[in-house]
Amino acid sequence: MRQFKTIRRPLALAMLGGLFIAVPASWAAAPPEAASCIACHGADGMGNAAAGYPRLAGLPQQYLADQLHYFADGTRNNAIMSGMAKPLTAPQVTALAAYYAKLKPSGKPSPMPTGAAATEGERLALRGDWEHGIPACIRCHGPGAVGVGANFPPLVGQSAVYIEAQIKAWKDGSRRGDPLGMMHTVALRMTDAQTQDVARWLAAQPLALSKTSAAKP
Ligand code: HEC
Ligand code: HEC
Repeated sequence: MRQFKTIRRPLALAMLGGLFIAVPASWAAAPPEAASCIACHGADGMGNAAAGYPRLAGLPQQYLADQLHYFADGTRNNAIMSGMAKPLTAPQVTALAAYYAKLKPSGKPSPMPTGAAATEGERLALRGDWEHGIPACIRCHGPGAVGVGANFPPLVGQSAVYIEAQIKAWKDGSRRGDPLGMMHTVALRMTDAQTQDVARWLAAQPLALSKTSAAKP
């Protein structure tokens, strides 16, 4: 981890320096610590789908701050992010969370899976699997899975790799901190195949649906 940071930090800073003249206004508000985040989460805060680095742009500020505290105190157990979050002070966490919450999400969804996987993914996301006690994802994450308020983060704009990894993390207890254990409960009821199908379907959704086209449960 230490070695990684020493290599990446100067690189990230050099990139920032090079971009200085052309940077969008939002960079002016970037806290200095964000320079060590862009190697994985991107200058646009949209992460890296193939690597499973999540989107941070436009996530609720309180949710982002909570997650950084969880990585630091082990509530959320991830070697990479624990190493990143532990050295951050409380004001740095607040500044980073505020910065990423304000970044506008961008980018294209992943290709839609075909056949039975797509049908099953859509069923779980929009209607759930009541026989097995799995509520529809959109019941909590909102129409279009664009997120609701401070507690229910958006799922659109996250990659299938990341979504799948999170469900597995709740199952095996390496991710905790979810209010009332809501996601732990949902995750325990999902099979691995269901997890993969719904993750791939969600990753193929557009970033934001207009109110009128929002999916109905
Ligand atoms: C070396 C790559 C790497 C770097 C650098 C990095 N992250 Fe991460 N980040 C990850 C990975 C991987 C995850 C997913 C961890 C998991 O599965 O629990 C993650 C997850 C997160 C999450 C949780 C997002 C969510 O939707 O729950 C936040 C918040 C976050 N990172 C913030 C930061 C910030 C702020 C920085 C800079 C101080 C940073 N990260 C630097 C790889 C990185
Ligand atoms: C009963 C409400 C509820 C339902 C139903 C629900 N979720 Fe969640 N979900 C939550 C909450 C609350 C969080 C935030 C957890 C936290 O703050 O740690 C969350 C977070 C997540 C995250 C983490 C996002 C991130 O950025 O790290 C993923 C992935 C996720 N849910 C997937 C799903 C999927 C897939 C479904 C449908 C199969 C689903 N959820 C159904 C309440 C729910």
